[in-house]
Amino acid sequence: MTLPAPSRPLTRAPNPRSLHVMTWGCQMNAYDSGRMADILRPLGFTPVPTPDADLVILNTCHIRERAADKLFSELGRLRTLKEARPGGMLIAVAGCVAQAEGAEILARAPYVDLVMGSQAYHRLPALLDALSLSGAPVIDTDFPAEQKFDHLPSDQASQGPIAFLAIQEGCDKFCTFCVVPYTRGAEQSRPAAAILAEARRLVALGAREIALLGQNVNAWHGDGPDGKSWSLARLLAALAEINDLARLRYTTSHPRDMSADLIAAHRTNSKLMPFLHLPVQSGSDLILAAMNRRHNVDLFRRITAELRANRPDIALSSDFIVGFPGETEADFQATMRLVAETGFALAYSFKYSRRPGTPAADAPDQVPEPVKNARLQELQALLRLQQDDFNRAQIGQQFDVLFTGPGRHPGQFAGRSPYLQPVIVEASTLRTGQIAPVRVTEANPNSLMAILDHTHDRREHQAA
Ligand code: 5AD
Ligand code: SF4
Repeated sequence: MTLPAPSRPLTRAPNPRSLHVMTWGCQMNAYDSGRMADILRPLGFTPVPTPDADLVILNTCHIRERAADKLFSELGRLRTLKEARPGGMLIAVAGCVAQAEGAEILARAPYVDLVMGSQAYHRLPALLDALSLSGAPVIDTDFPAEQKFDHLPSDQASQGPIAFLAIQEGCDKFCTFCVVPYTRGAEQSRPAAAILAEARRLVALGAREIALLGQNVNAWHGDGPDGKSWSLARLLAALAEINDLARLRYTTSHPRDMSADLIAAHRTNSKLMPFLHLPVQSGSDLILAAMNRRHNVDLFRRITAELRANRPDIALSSDFIVGFPGETEADFQATMRLVAETGFALAYSFKYSRRPGTPAADAPDQVPEPVKNARLQELQALLRLQQDDFNRAQIGQQFDVLFTGPGRHPGQFAGRSPYLQPVIVEASTLRTGQIAPVRVTEANPNSLMAILDHTHDRREHQAA
């Protein structure tokens, strides 16, 4: 194997090298991939769109089955590329599969150079140094005492109008189906001052919308710059004071942490978008208890009612699992009823997938695969109908769109609605980052067509 030049001298005199990062899984992984590219930029690494690169990082996801199969088949492809590449290639596996199965990855794919867990990416320069000094594969799956977020370079690349900002990581909830508490570790909140500084930097670089990220984002709490303990609602209020920042979101939330002040923020914080992703997983109290969700259906109902009372135009999205161990037809029909009565603009639904090491994986009453398939189909048909209804209900509506760039066809410009729907208009006068009012003319399954609405004189950001 030919290793690229050692990274220590390059730290002083960067030597151009190519980097390709493949990202699977959640928005937090996408965020981490961006930060890895930021950390590697001072070492001379430039992102390229194909895996024909000096360093290829696979940023993996472990949330559902076949994560390892997918990883090893991708690694097989990369091995062929690596062997054929005159300059050699470093292959790194990052993220949650690396965290959970680091040693096995090196045993099964010895041509992998670096395995790093989801908490290690800020140590990438040191890991590359260790690799170039020893030539032997390097593995780092520790949960360090320091926070990786504190080690981000301040000179980020240019920023589009929609930015993601990780404010919290990890989870202490231990739902019985979920690997996250094991792969991402305990809940950790970043301090408010660091978040505000990063938000200001993102806005200075062009962001107009910021989505706060965390596995349990609404569990965020931290010391505020005023010395007081801040909640997420307080943090959102401070972020809303940043002038050129027009839109705020936060994801993913847990029903247990939907505090009264956060619900009220949907009325009082005019920059908070009227859209919330709030996973409920099941509509059966028995299954919610077996999942160790720490909430029942009634709490979810009360939260959604209060959200709608505070913000009548709010749209909801959620996650569902069908076929959790012990789920009967009656339990599943309770989920169908909850969906029917709530009405979701968007939803993600999954068949329960046994994750080794999680409590539910060993439950005796696993649901047969054909039953899971039938339930998933039934649920997805209803969710699809609701999404189509929601999109169709936008026809004739007026709202502001944050424009993100030219559309696929000449003369088109594309952006995002307050509800995260892609919106396409025919217009030549728009610029990226502009927020302009539109009127929706047509609803497609995954996007809306609209015209600029010059008669519509609402302020740039949607006031509640
Ligand atoms: N099986 C199926 N779905 C799962 N999720 C998490 N773990 C599992 C699992 N073992 C789903 C949940 C969660 C979303 C991110 O992934 O619905 O909210
Ligand atoms: Fe997983 Fe439950 Fe934590 Fe969400 S709250 S990350 S589903 S353990």
